[in-house]
Amino acid sequence: MFSRIPIYYFLLFFYTCPLALTCEREFPEYTSEQEFARGLETRAEKFPPEWTKEEEILSKSISAATIKSWASYYTHGNHVAGLNKSQAEATAKQWNENGIKTELVEYEVWLNYPVNGSLVLEGAKEGKHVANLWEDKLPEDETTNWEGQMPGFHGYSASGDVKAEYIYVGLAHKDDFARLKQLNINLKGKIALAKYGGPFRGTKVKNAEREGMVGVVIFSDPGDDGPQVAKGDKAYPEGRARHPSSIQRGSVAYIDQYVGDPTTPGYASKPGVKRTSGEEILPKIPSLPISYRDALPILRALDGYGTTGSAVARSGWVGGLSATYSTGPAPNVTLSLSNKMEGKFKLIWNVIGIINGTESDETIILGNHRDAWMIGGAADPNGGSAILVESTKAFGELVKTGWKPRRNIVFASWDAEEYALIGSTEWVEEFAPWLKDTAFSYINVDTAVNGALPAADATPELRGVAQEVMKKVIYGTQTLYDSWRSTYPYEPESYGFGNLGSSSDYTTFLQYGIGALHFQMARSRTDAVYHYHSNYDSFHWMTKFIDPDFKIHTTVASYLTLLTYQLATSPIMPYDFDHFARNMDYNLREVVGELNRIYSTDIGGTQNYVGLTPYVDAVKNLQTIVKSFAAKISATGFADDSKRVKDANRRMKGLLRAFVDNPGLLGRPFYKALLWAPNRDDGYRPQLAPGIIEALYDRNLDRARDWVGIHKVAFEKAARLMNLTVPFQ
Ligand SMILES: *[C@@H]1O[C@H](CO)[C@@H](O)[C@H](O)[C@H]1NC(C)=O
Ligand SMILES: *[C@@H]1O[C@H](CO)[C@@H](O)[C@H](O)[C@H]1NC(C)=O
Ligand SMILES: *[C@@H]1O[C@H](CO)[C@@H](O)[C@H](O)[C@H]1NC(C)=O
Ligand SMILES: *[C@@H]1O[C@H](CO)[C@@H](O)[C@H](O)[C@H]1NC(C)=O
Ligand SMILES: *[C@@H]1O[C@H](CO)[C@@H](O)[C@H](O)[C@H]1NC(C)=O
Ligand SMILES: [Zn+2]
Repeated sequence: MFSRIPIYYFLLFFYTCPLALTCEREFPEYTSEQEFARGLETRAEKFPPEWTKEEEILSKSISAATIKSWASYYTHGNHVAGLNKSQAEATAKQWNENGIKTELVEYEVWLNYPVNGSLVLEGAKEGKHVANLWEDKLPEDETTNWEGQMPGFHGYSASGDVKAEYIYVGLAHKDDFARLKQLNINLKGKIALAKYGGPFRGTKVKNAEREGMVGVVIFSDPGDDGPQVAKGDKAYPEGRARHPSSIQRGSVAYIDQYVGDPTTPGYASKPGVKRTSGEEILPKIPSLPISYRDALPILRALDGYGTTGSAVARSGWVGGLSATYSTGPAPNVTLSLSNKMEGKFKLIWNVIGIINGTESDETIILGNHRDAWMIGGAADPNGGSAILVESTKAFGELVKTGWKPRRNIVFASWDAEEYALIGSTEWVEEFAPWLKDTAFSYINVDTAVNGALPAADATPELRGVAQEVMKKVIYGTQTLYDSWRSTYPYEPESYGFGNLGSSSDYTTFLQYGIGALHFQMARSRTDAVYHYHSNYDSFHWMTKFIDPDFKIHTTVASYLTLLTYQLATSPIMPYDFDHFARNMDYNLREVVGELNRIYSTDIGGTQNYVGLTPYVDAVKNLQTIVKSFAAKISATGFADDSKRVKDANRRMKGLLRAFVDNPGLLGRPFYKALLWAPNRDDGYRPQLAPGIIEALYDRNLDRARDWVGIHKVAFEKAARLMNLTVPFQ
């Protein structure tokens, strides 16, 4: 089975996740086979789908027109974190009018905003160049002309004024720096010029800082966009290619350490609480993002100096601009980088609506962040915000009929996600005891729509229900499920689901042992470029190129609403233990694979040393137990016994919690989920079995053995929990 995965799986989609904090999942161009599969418009499933009375009320109350008008509302006003209370109030007001009891929950958090910045190239053969930190105003795209814009900047960047020669550092991954050192390039005291893509941008800055570099400039490269330019597409707004002035803003916090307010690691930012300096996650050196138009002369000034990009031979190093992507430095060719930021404690406002369930100790959460880096934010995040308004409306209709869910449903519109997942993290930290007692799953939507292809990442226990509910959703002339199946025609082991690392508000839930699903409609690389975190992620772009009549948004709204409904009403929580067991195999494989890679000459002794056999036994035992658990709870009659149902639900609620009871990863105790964490060198991608794997990366077998032991104990604990013959404690 496994051997079928890797090639097709990675051909099928990949993460560009230059993610700020928000994943951008992209699909490559279709192969003809995939094109063919899509062309079939298969209707393997009943079409139109059959709905229960409740599902029909929910589905029919969702309207493209309301979503569109709320999308327009959110994308016509500056709503950078902490700056727009009126959007929070309008959201709360509407949810209340929709019949959901809603309040603002505020926190006081450390944020910073740009005051003045500049970047100047001097000493180059082609002369001085002053970068423009402002994106062009476009007559067709109304909001790009509005007052109150912010320039290109990095959230949480340090202030600073530096002038130095500079080095092109590729994606600024740790391994890129290792390569530069191998090439004997002196990094100390220089400015880093990096390309977006690969690691989280904060991780790029962190790596440069660690090398003694004094500033960082990060540019968008059209080579990462897709074939638009090669195909002769005009730039936005006429055509589908990237606008040359577009700038990717975003946070540079060192989120591999922890997320949330930098000054309150692990606890809620209520007024009056003790504050730390936040220095572990705040950069010490200044950085700025620039457009490719401004990157070109800066890159070209390095042509002929240092090692050329092709000789550096690192993947992702060479982009699509006409330059050699040489390392430099070019002697006496300098950048002057000046960045002035103003930091302050600001209030932020989460909007929280709740429908009480009949079981007060069972909860499902549906959330989306509301803050954007600019006035627009049509994709990131406000398509999702408009969808949440619509979902509260649909549930409100159902509530009016006298319906009550079994489980509490929490609707959440988070603030300050973009800086460091702050609104969701502070909320989880504040309500941790209640969530620990009651929460099953968190459903996240962020960039709801930047294309037309369904894409879901989820913890494994949610994957079955996630697919089943797709069969209930109309997407054009198909069900969403059929579109999904044709998007992933090879049916790899994971059925197209990715694991979750850190790129949006599910991150902290996972680290508290709450499973999550993250859903979006993603672009294919042939679609119009998505100007991620740029002023051109605007209502105009969305309506001209992506979803003019908001039908794709409507599909996402129906899906998330029906999924939340299913999770909140199924008497027995619909966990998928097949996927869960399979995912535990992935976890094991990750560990065994890494052991083999690093210690291949001595694998037998090493395996014994790290205690691999008892650990593998514990994993296998849990797999056996959950399969038997699944069989028992689906047996005839089980569902009629409300006591046994309650008992089974309690156990399922505790399943992922069994994997978070530990001191956390070395050097970053915030990350406690044994099964998954953001990769420490990437900041963003999922890493399975991170405790063990990081010890192996560090060639520290003693530590690896300790972590293997911690895993074994957690698996045994989970096995006792899921063993129905052991009384629930
Ligand atoms: C907040 O957003 C709303 C709607 O998007 C907008 O009308 C308002 O002007 C914004 N407020 C501020 C202070 O920018
Ligand atoms: C902004 O920075 C530039 C370059 O450092 C400087 O020349 C200019 O005076 C500054 N402007 C303000 C308003 O501080
Ligand atoms: C660079 O500048 C320094 C100081 O201005 C000068 O001494 C040196 O000759 C210059 N080097 C080159 C290669 O131009
Ligand atoms: C929901 O339950 C909570 C806790 O029991 C209670 O405080 C709240 O008033 C209830 N909300 C509604 C709308 O009934
Ligand atoms: C389940 O618990 C019972 C009672 O403690 C025990 O005998 C049995 O071996 C357990 N099952 C597994 C597969 O561990
Ligand atoms: Zn986002």
